[in-house]
Amino acid sequence: MTSASAANTAVIVLAAGSGTRLGEPIPKAAVRVHGRTLLDYALEGALASGVAEHMVVTVPVDCSASCPELMEDARRAGALITAGGDTRTASVVAALDALKDAQVPVDYVLIHDCARAFTPPQVYHRVLEGLGSESPQGVVRAVIPVLPVVDTVKTVDSAGLVTGTPSRAQMRAVQTPQGFEVAALLAAHERSRSLPAEEAELLTDDAMAMEAAGEPVLTVAGDADAFKVTTPMDLGVARALFGDSAA
Ligand code: C5P
Repeated sequence: MTSASAANTAVIVLAAGSGTRLGEPIPKAAVRVHGRTLLDYALEGALASGVAEHMVVTVPVDCSASCPELMEDARRAGALITAGGDTRTASVVAALDALKDAQVPVDYVLIHDCARAFTPPQVYHRVLEGLGSESPQGVVRAVIPVLPVVDTVKTVDSAGLVTGTPSRAQMRAVQTPQGFEVAALLAAHERSRSLPAEEAELLTDDAMAMEAAGEPVLTVAGDADAFKVTTPMDLGVARALFGDSAA
């Protein structure tokens, strides 16, 4: 297996979501923190990391008309731009297709949620370093950044009654960028497509598809700054901590 380096790696920044939960009338990636879009911050972090010579950004389908500023941010960062799909997974597939169509020869991808716009470059480094490492279950082709879980977590049934309390010590909250060997990721996606719909629906992210395919998925340390901007409160935190006012 070729080892991961900037030359054979691409960062995929997923920015095609609607941002409904943020309560803004524009795509989440276009929401501004001190004058700059979330996408612009996300691209800055990815570029500063230096982990990849190639970058793809997925944008909403009608972006040329509805969010030209995102196209502009992506262009300025030297990224390929492609329309996202209906789901996050469909957007990942669109980005992988865009790399193939542009004949960009990459062996590894780091898939990043634009909503985690303030992810420090060190997280990218840790993910890239984990790829290709040896684990007790074989060579690592999937790496995810995680944080310890601070809340006690319960499982519940449809009536809202608690069915269990998993041990917090063993739980981790997952962040992005998530790193993959492209061939293994494509094989895992292919395998997911052959599953019955009800099983395929449960595979909500790429790492789950890799787990389901029996691949070891390595965790590395995430970072509190890599929080996902999802709610108005998250946006308030972002505006308080980052951009001009944080100087
Ligand atoms: O909706 P959620 O915050 O979970 O989305 C995670 C990331 O995936 C966001 O950065 C969003 O822009 C992106 N996404 C996408 N295409 C979709 C849905 C989400 O690129 N269809």
